[in-house]
Amino acid sequence: MPQLGVNIDHVATLRQARRGLEPDPVWAAVEAQVAGADGITLHLREDRRHIQDRDLRAMKDVVQVKLNLEMALADEIIEIALRTKPSQVTLVPEKRQEITTEGGLDVAGQEERVAAVTEKFKRAGIVVSLFIDPFEPQVAAAARCGAEAVELHTGRYAEAWGGAEQEATFAELAGAAQRAMGLGLICHAGHGLNYQNVGPVAEIPGIAELNIGHSIISRAVFVGLREAVREMKRLIQN
Ligand code: PXP
Repeated sequence: MPQLGVNIDHVATLRQARRGLEPDPVWAAVEAQVAGADGITLHLREDRRHIQDRDLRAMKDVVQVKLNLEMALADEIIEIALRTKPSQVTLVPEKRQEITTEGGLDVAGQEERVAAVTEKFKRAGIVVSLFIDPFEPQVAAAARCGAEAVELHTGRYAEAWGGAEQEATFAELAGAAQRAMGLGLICHAGHGLNYQNVGPVAEIPGIAELNIGHSIISRAVFVGLREAVREMKRLIQN
């Protein structure tokens, strides 16, 4: 059964709307843990649009489950990550104009750089996961780079949910997962997963971790974060 990593960036997005103190994503991390989250995921973006450096430092102190830092291949952020030592880093692409991480990291197009950064983190005892589109060349490149894990981008599947492409995008995901695990990679998935579409992904044999943010934080507005996390955990378990 996959573990649930709760992405709390969206709590910081709300706080940054007023550049104040509330709601505090660190409180959200505590609540999510109380509700049974197996991990806390946060993305320290170069533009600091939501999570701030202070948030990462505080998370490091209060998170007792897996702390998963999403980050771009940027020297400044790499240095911060090596200093902070989260349990895991997930390397993602970053574009200034995007609303959220739109596509996977092009590992195949920058293998040397990804391999070098992966090696740095591995030497520091930090697990490396590469956020990639569920395409064969990216899976193969991720394995060559020495990463322990890949996170398959579920955005295409989530967008296709309920439409003509649903089955095809799911088959693409399941196939990429099988290929990744066949190459010895631990397989995670995330992006756009919600209470409706999470079931089939959670059932892909061997999937180890699902990282989910927007849908959980959105539901939390109405039912509270503990209940929202518990409901998602229940769906993943069943
Ligand atoms: N995984 C990665 C690598 C992401 O970049 C994001 C979005 O920050 C997520 C998972 C969570 O996506 P969502 O907020 O759509 O659940």
